[in-house]
Amino acid sequence: MLEAQPAQIAEDKFSIHNLVTREPRAGLAEDVRRGLATKPKRFLPKYFYDELGSQLFEAICLLPEYYLTRAENDILTRYADDIVAEVHGEITLIEMGSGSASKTRLIIEALLRKQPDLLFIPVDISASALDSSSRILLQSYPQLSIEAYAGDYFAGLAELEKTTRARTLALFLGSNISNFDPDEALKFLRALRQVLHAGDALLLGADLKKDRATLEAAYNDALGVTAAFNLNVLARINRELGGSFDLRGFQHHAFYNEELGRVEIYIESTRDQTVSIGQLEMEVQFGKGEQIHTENSYKYALSDIANLAAETGFRRASTWLDSDERFSSNLLLAV
Ligand code: AVI
Repeated sequence: MLEAQPAQIAEDKFSIHNLVTREPRAGLAEDVRRGLATKPKRFLPKYFYDELGSQLFEAICLLPEYYLTRAENDILTRYADDIVAEVHGEITLIEMGSGSASKTRLIIEALLRKQPDLLFIPVDISASALDSSSRILLQSYPQLSIEAYAGDYFAGLAELEKTTRARTLALFLGSNISNFDPDEALKFLRALRQVLHAGDALLLGADLKKDRATLEAAYNDALGVTAAFNLNVLARINRELGGSFDLRGFQHHAFYNEELGRVEIYIESTRDQTVSIGQLEMEVQFGKGEQIHTENSYKYALSDIANLAAETGFRRASTWLDSDERFSSNLLLAV
């Protein structure tokens, strides 16, 4: 039997700039050491996304309780043409954190109904995800060319600031803004604004504030996928740093902190225990009930988004909601 050969992509259609300078395990080791030495203990949410964690997140997006992905898809399916109609001229498309770029297709298709070809500039921490998603997109859309940047958001933005572009539409989808604390959200949007010119636009997906029951169900699904996604951080430390976490001695805990407008996610020790981490030459004590804070997921009111836009050099020009009004896609114009 003949094996399927990957289609050849013309060199002038695809380039990838690798901006990752540090050995990834060194960053994890440093941050885990620091996070376990602080009180309360804490890990950075970016460490969820190793290969298994990324697959678990894809599974979360399919869960009946996790409405966010379906809601954003619903909006982009219905309104992509209206969204791109608000940005005038020949457009270059940037996407921050593109991952598998599945929702991006809806915007790409709308743009290609408006213009004959398109330059797409995705920025993502994972070079392998960029490589595979870019090749698939290039096979689907012969009118596309792709210039990808593999690196963290700020490294990607620093590179983009050095280049000039036509009228630009930037995408930051999936409510990825949710996992930034308020000061980080400001810093990120200001850095993004720096690479845009007045009249360029940002499409920002943001999950909305809503009733506690809906929010808590979304982060405590019945199948336990979110729990697995959360506890996988401990499994990752076992795999990559020689840790001795017994996953049965820890549990997932998530609740809505209405005062701070965020879902807070923790890993909780179910007993007194000591864990060693070989490569850090470290022993860590956990009391029964002690928690590691792994993530915040901020929820927004439409007024919060307008304020965030105004503080970062944008104006919230238009907002589209899904039919259940749970999620928002916001077109922010650079002013
Ligand atoms: C990626 N991010 C927007 C997700 C969220 O909803 O905050 C991450 C997530 N954490 C648990 N479930 C999903």
